[in-house]
Amino acid sequence: SAQKAVLSLDADRANIKINPNIYGMFSEHLGRGIYGGIWVPKDAKVEKQGRIRMDVVEALRKIQIPNLRWPGGCFADEYHWMDGIGDPAKRPKMVNTNWGGVTEDNSFGTNEFMQLCHLLHTQPYISGNMGSGTVQEMSNWVEYLNFDGASPMTKLRKEDGVDKPYGVQFFGIGNESWGCGGNMTPEFYVDQFRRYATFAKSYHDAPLKRIASGANSDDYHWTEVLMKGIPHNMMWGISLHYYTIPTGNWGKKGSATKFSEQEYFNTMKNCLHMEDLVTRHSAIMDKYDPQKKVALVVDEWGVWTDAEPGTNPSFLYQQNSMRDALIAATTLNIFNNHADRVRMANLAQTVNVLQSLILTKGDQMILTPTYYVFELYKKHQGAKLIPLHLISPAYTMGGKTIDAVNGSASIDSTGKMHISLVNLDAEKANPITIDLAHTKYVKVNGEILDAKAVTSVNTFEAPDNVKTTGFTDYKLSGDAGNQVLSVNLPAHSVVMLEVN
Ligand code: AHR
Repeated sequence: SAQKAVLSLDADRANIKINPNIYGMFSEHLGRGIYGGIWVPKDAKVEKQGRIRMDVVEALRKIQIPNLRWPGGCFADEYHWMDGIGDPAKRPKMVNTNWGGVTEDNSFGTNEFMQLCHLLHTQPYISGNMGSGTVQEMSNWVEYLNFDGASPMTKLRKEDGVDKPYGVQFFGIGNESWGCGGNMTPEFYVDQFRRYATFAKSYHDAPLKRIASGANSDDYHWTEVLMKGIPHNMMWGISLHYYTIPTGNWGKKGSATKFSEQEYFNTMKNCLHMEDLVTRHSAIMDKYDPQKKVALVVDEWGVWTDAEPGTNPSFLYQQNSMRDALIAATTLNIFNNHADRVRMANLAQTVNVLQSLILTKGDQMILTPTYYVFELYKKHQGAKLIPLHLISPAYTMGGKTIDAVNGSASIDSTGKMHISLVNLDAEKANPITIDLAHTKYVKVNGEILDAKAVTSVNTFEAPDNVKTTGFTDYKLSGDAGNQVLSVNLPAHSVVMLEVN
């Protein structure tokens, strides 16, 4: 820790690409995530393609989401894909046992999901059912999605009006198999993975990127057993799930909108735990895979609070505040800085569920503070990570300390540098000095996401309360080739600097 933040960048060593898939999303059949948030009744007034609402699609297109994980979550391991194809009027219904025991009418199935991905210009990431489905069922799903030749599944797909195979690449073999996905031991999961993965085939032009169901937060043993037991050429990645719980207590997680500075501080401390998790799981992976061929896929992350008062607690609907934007920005900085191993991640869960980008109410829609972080950070997608060294002032509360400032930086294909900086201090601005020595950079452009307070939110009445604006509180000094950029980071803010 120091009085003043100091950042030095090693632009000459920018050679690892930030995989755009780090900016992925997750949408489960849960509450109003799909139904209402994306897929609406035929007579809904909002603009639609089929039953997909286009206001939400257009907002998501702007932030270029690279991939979308579906249909779960816990729902994935009780989902039988064949119930969701064919004539919608004839599709069987089922009970969504994980999320409120509501009736799932299967009107949003594989082809509707693929249409959504097409409209979003995004890659599908399908979670296969290993918990309660058969090997043949999973194998058939992949054949239906990806096979081009004459076969029973190709025939079915063509009857559904889809002539060409989809070429789906990302495919999960089970979800949270240590819990809702079957309560398996890691040893049992390894054997099951080997079996299911064998029959989830790679077809022509569609090499399947199989993703193993990975650890629950700090269950390092799970990662160890999987890395040791699964042949690495069978899996593209191994997942990790971690949620930021404000109080740290799953029984009483804390409110999304009403919290003290101490609770805010604790939340950010819990959020920063992602750094340890990624570091330690990566170290285990390094042991078995020193060439880093297997990706660490953080396919569920975000803040999980108590549900909004007055809503069905099983629907996991929560407001989204400036605090949550700081969580997103900090977590994405962590992922960027670990781009050598973290090559995919998925925020839970896009619309109306947990840490959302978008909230809807009937035909209305609002963007959350978290949405704006993804808009600011899209500049990092596919750019080369600049290794950095950041000395941060301390942020201390209740006898505990965290770094007030965090950041990440990248250089894009046109040579522009982007530096994303977060000041977590709820009350205090923090100046930072960025050493640009030995670089050719002379021009700076800034954008900022900040708000009156960490509790600030956007509502249907005041949708633009928290949003991005221009940022000019910086000064470039020194001679060409030896410049210093001094920036003043306001309290609880996210700043994106473009330097060229
Ligand atoms: O995202 C909500 C739930 O959290 C998912 O269904 C499950 O995988 C995780 O426990």
